[in-house]
Amino acid sequence: MKSVCVVGAGPAGLVATKTLALAGLDVSCFELSSEIGGHWKLDNPSGRSAAYHSLETNTTKAMSRLSDYEMPEEWEEFSPYDRVHEWFESYIDHFGFRDRIHLGVEVLEATAREPSGWSVELRDANGETTTREFDALVACSGSYWSPKIPELVGDVEGEAFHAQQYRGPEEPVSTRDRRVVVVGNGNTGCEIACEMAAAGAQSVELSARSGTWIMPKRIDGRPAAASAPMMSPFDEVPALLRFLPRRWREDLFAWLGTKMMKRMMGDRMKRLVELGMPEPPANPLDKRATVCDPLLDSLESGAVVARPGIERVEGKEIIYTDGSRSNADVLIFATGYHLRYPYLDEEWVDTRDDDLSLFLGTMHPERHDLFIVGVSRPTGAFWPIAEMHAQFAAALLSGRYALPGAREIEKHTQPILGRRAFNPALYGLAMREELERGARRADRAAR
Ligand SMILES: Cc1cc2nc3c(=O)[nH]c(=O)nc-3n(C[C@H](O)[C@H](O)[C@H](O)COP(=O)(O)OP(=O)(O)OC[C@H]3O[C@@H](n4cnc5c(N)ncnc54)[C@H](O)[C@@H]3O)c2cc1C
Ligand SMILES: NC(=O)c1ccc[n+]([C@@H]2O[C@H](COP(=O)([O-])OP(=O)(O)OC[C@H]3O[C@@H](n4cnc5c(N)ncnc54)[C@H](OP(=O)(O)O)[C@@H]3O)[C@@H](O)[C@H]2O)c1
Repeated sequence: MKSVCVVGAGPAGLVATKTLALAGLDVSCFELSSEIGGHWKLDNPSGRSAAYHSLETNTTKAMSRLSDYEMPEEWEEFSPYDRVHEWFESYIDHFGFRDRIHLGVEVLEATAREPSGWSVELRDANGETTTREFDALVACSGSYWSPKIPELVGDVEGEAFHAQQYRGPEEPVSTRDRRVVVVGNGNTGCEIACEMAAAGAQSVELSARSGTWIMPKRIDGRPAAASAPMMSPFDEVPALLRFLPRRWREDLFAWLGTKMMKRMMGDRMKRLVELGMPEPPANPLDKRATVCDPLLDSLESGAVVARPGIERVEGKEIIYTDGSRSNADVLIFATGYHLRYPYLDEEWVDTRDDDLSLFLGTMHPERHDLFIVGVSRPTGAFWPIAEMHAQFAAALLSGRYALPGAREIEKHTQPILGRRAFNPALYGLAMREELERGARRADRAAR
């Protein structure tokens, strides 16, 4: 039985631990926090959660379900953060793998042994360090914990912080009756700008240096994604697409999906641009889309004012790239996160450009005992994709799957973030097909 070290007990680490344990592997999951759930634990003692009081999922229950576990039928489509956390707690109990999770234990360093295996240095809550040996390493330490803060020209006066610290309009600082500038038009920036405007900020400006598609979460009270097909890796793919070569079906579906998105959201996006948001890319899949309901109304009413990127700051004065100026008492950087694995050597995991190239989105192309699970760019939810990653690792490590040759591995190795968003159902299908091919290779090798 191979031993596997899973780093982190956020959603990805939990689905990985369960999937690997069910495949008969000897799994140990180490979590530096005293809590499971990663982002979904508000004020997580790890200090790494970006959850705020009003946070709820922007992915529906159907999109977010796992292969064998769903949110209860009576729950709302978009769950608040504490429900998501409760759901992951119940997932652990349902599959009975709590004994595999070691809370309060940080992975300090994982060193690759030759020709395979990992020496893992651990530090427990008392500060004691130990080193343990594992056959494989599954990194599930998340991709949204190392805040990206832009280097602004000039000196910032007033309060400035990254959105990871934002909990609500009164926390970490009160924004009531104050002038607020939010930098970044991702999900976080758009949502918190609207929230602070509604909660009584004197003014809120949203600064965006480039455009992206901004989608509604609900249309006429129903989840906008409800009408979109194939949003989970566990959804059926129609036969017409299933029998096309992988590349063709992906291109065809992306073309159709893009056309549909433009038809449904094009006018709304046009209005957002008229209201000052930057022009989005021609293809909505080229950049992570933002999902935000209140932004359009907030811009229409003037509660939020759209601004371009920041050129420089002079004390409390912000000078934008179009020459306009305004004042900020509170400056919030909703500018995203760096991809970082500080416990792994750069030789294996070089994330200086905030990306990594992996086989099928999860396995290191040269170290076949190193997996990054849960970091991806799907058009749906993250956790089911993490489960597909984990299913792949489980099949390989338990000997049910044999890898193809080096050329085939290279062909299917690509960046996990700097790429077009992919359809979850087509990814699920491609992964199942590859697992079947690998199972046949493993059978042949065993004969
Ligand atoms: C504000 C916000 C909202 C989001 N909303 C959605 C949504 O609606 N739907 C969706 O699908 N996705 C959403 N996401 C994406 C989100 O990243 C995933 O939902 C999910 O939290 C990712 O799980 P993860 O386990 O990869 O990472 P995390 O949740 O970040 O968990 C990583 C865990 O690893 C631990 N860890 C890190 N380093 C170490 C170490 N060296 N040793 C031991 N433990 C370590 C951390 O303490 C943490 O518990 C959202 C993200 C953010 C930031
Ligand atoms: N469930 C929810 O409702 C919810 C809420 C919040 C977040 N989330 C999720 O959390 C994850 C992180 O979202 P996020 O919004 O925090 O980060 P993000 O998606 O990475 O967005 C960061 C934004 O900051 C901008 N930016 C980056 N560097 C900049 C700079 N130097 N100057 C100006 N702008 C800069 C980016 O624009 P450029 O493109 O120009 O770089 C982008 O608009 C996403 O997966 C998101 O879906 C979900």
